[in-house]
Amino acid sequence: MSRRDMKRSLETLPLIYPIPIVLVGAWVDGRANFATIGDCAIMGLTPALVVISLGDMCHTLRGVLEADAFSINLPSTGLLAEADACGIASGAMVDKSEWFTVSRGERTKVPCIEECPVNLECRVVDRVDYAHRRIFVAEVVLTHVEASLLTDEDPLQLAAMIDFDPIIYGLDNRYYRIGGSIGTGYAEGRELAAMTRRT
Ligand SMILES: Cc1cc2nc3c(=O)[nH]c(=O)nc-3n(C[C@H](O)[C@H](O)[C@H](O)COP(=O)(O)O)c2cc1C
Repeated sequence: MSRRDMKRSLETLPLIYPIPIVLVGAWVDGRANFATIGDCAIMGLTPALVVISLGDMCHTLRGVLEADAFSINLPSTGLLAEADACGIASGAMVDKSEWFTVSRGERTKVPCIEECPVNLECRVVDRVDYAHRRIFVAEVVLTHVEASLLTDEDPLQLAAMIDFDPIIYGLDNRYYRIGGSIGTGYAEGRELAAMTRRT
């Protein structure tokens, strides 16, 4: 039996693992609001581009549309309850800013969560509306990282992902944490890439 025959179709599930959980922040009616977002991805490093997808019922959406800016805050696993709660409660009903220490972004004034080790200040550069989703492409205009997580050892100065201890979400509706590094980018496949030629 081939590998293909051993697979079953799950129709159209966008099964791309893993999904880092982020908290997207914006001011709505003068209050800092945060939504748990799994639909967030990097679109490029230079320029630094990200994309988020918000449902049109999302209270945070109003603030993003008004300011054309938002924050992306990366919670560590220690903030699991708060991160999940931001995805359960809507800012239309609950003041989620009470759960965090909130600061204002230096370049965009977007609300940032101090307890998160990473905060990205993002400015919207494009928007796509599809079905009930509002998909924002944004440029990262300033990245804040907790100083204790930085190292001089790698070019990006970033400590190992494991030190950030990000919250990972699966489409199985479970939260996970990162297990450990298994190799280095642009290195593990170098030999294979070098010895294989098109015939
Ligand atoms: C794990 C998880 C992932 C989520 N991902 C998204 C997402 O990508 N886009 C979205 O619009 N809502 C997502 N939600 C739902 C919103 O976080 C939820 O509707 C929240 O109440 C929005 O807050 P707000 O109304 O204050 O903006 C997610 C919720 C959870 C728990």
